Amino acid sequence: MSSDILAVDVAGIRFQNPVLLASGTAAYGREIHGVIDLEALGGIMTKAVSPLPRNGAPPPRVVDTPGGMLNAIGLANPGVASVRANDLPWLAANISRARVIVNVVGDTVEDYATVVSELATADGIDAFELNVSCPNTKAGGLEFGADPRALAEVVRGARAATTLPLFVKLSPALADIAGAAKIAVDAGADAITLVNTLPGLVIDVERRRPALGFGTGGLSGAALLPVGVRATWMVRRAVDVPIVGVGGIATGTDAVQYLLAGASLVALGTSALRDPRAPERVVRELEAWCRAHDVRAVGELTGKLEWES
Ligand SMILES: Cc1cc2nc3c(=O)[nH]c(=O)nc-3n(C[C@H](O)[C@H](O)[C@H](O)COP(=O)(O)O)c2cc1C
Repeated sequence: MSSDILAVDVAGIRFQNPVLLASGTAAYGREIHGVIDLEALGGIMTKAVSPLPRNGAPPPRVVDTPGGMLNAIGLANPGVASVRANDLPWLAANISRARVIVNVVGDTVEDYATVVSELATADGIDAFELNVSCPNTKAGGLEFGADPRALAEVVRGARAATTLPLFVKLSPALADIAGAAKIAVDAGADAITLVNTLPGLVIDVERRRPALGFGTGGLSGAALLPVGVRATWMVRRAVDVPIVGVGGIATGTDAVQYLLAGASLVALGTSALRDPRAPERVVRELEAWCRAHDVRAVGELTGKLEWES
């Protein structure tokens, strides 16, 4: 379902509504086609794509937590050549109304530009999202997003490799998330996605071992909602590019919180894994909320939190 009330223009792209599927929770679309009506959504952010195939982390890869879940998938993906040959053609042939944003990861600064340049001429991509919440193996495992120089280099490298819009996705664990957003924008980012998962550890007390095969993991789901909304509000005041709000969204009013805090788009991950109909329901609930509150265009809500601190 879509209506003009919900249509938004972000980074030069027209979205029929602002509700997307978050990266890593809907693979490359084909896997969930038939379960979710992708064409009813604003778009899909794909699973991460790295230069070479990645097997990912050992099982178990997910565990429930109070108010969410912890995952360590290890960015498993078939690699850029396979995604280009097998997944993007399917998206290009089957998806026209929903937008496609390809999520990119790497172990080195150069990896990001490699993936982006290999996909820059592929059909069916509207934008790239750089996941900088992963360890830079050449810098002792420090996260790209936490290292101002590496962050700027990643974004500049990707910027030089494509004319498509670049979204940069940041971790809520960054000490200065607004500062990181500013570095990304100064280096050429067109939008900021907030937030990735929050690092956590669940212990299986009987075995006295981590519950996840990898050990630590990333927390997602309802528990992340206020964290992501605050990050959105902080970044909104620091940069003047659109924000995609992600983290804990399960209802239309959750989405409205992100919009008021400063987001122009929202994305659902964990709630869509639990209930594949959640994204379409959130589209309907958001439209109903707008109508009930006399909002004629959803973009009017962006950044309209009435609070100065
Ligand atoms: C199983 C799983 C896999 C994920 N994979 C990726 C990924 O490949 N790239 C990425 O940037 N974020 C990834 N994420 C993070 C989500 O896109 C999202 O930022 C996070 O889960 C918070 O949103 P949620 O609370 O709606 O799930 C993943 C999350 C989950 C739960």
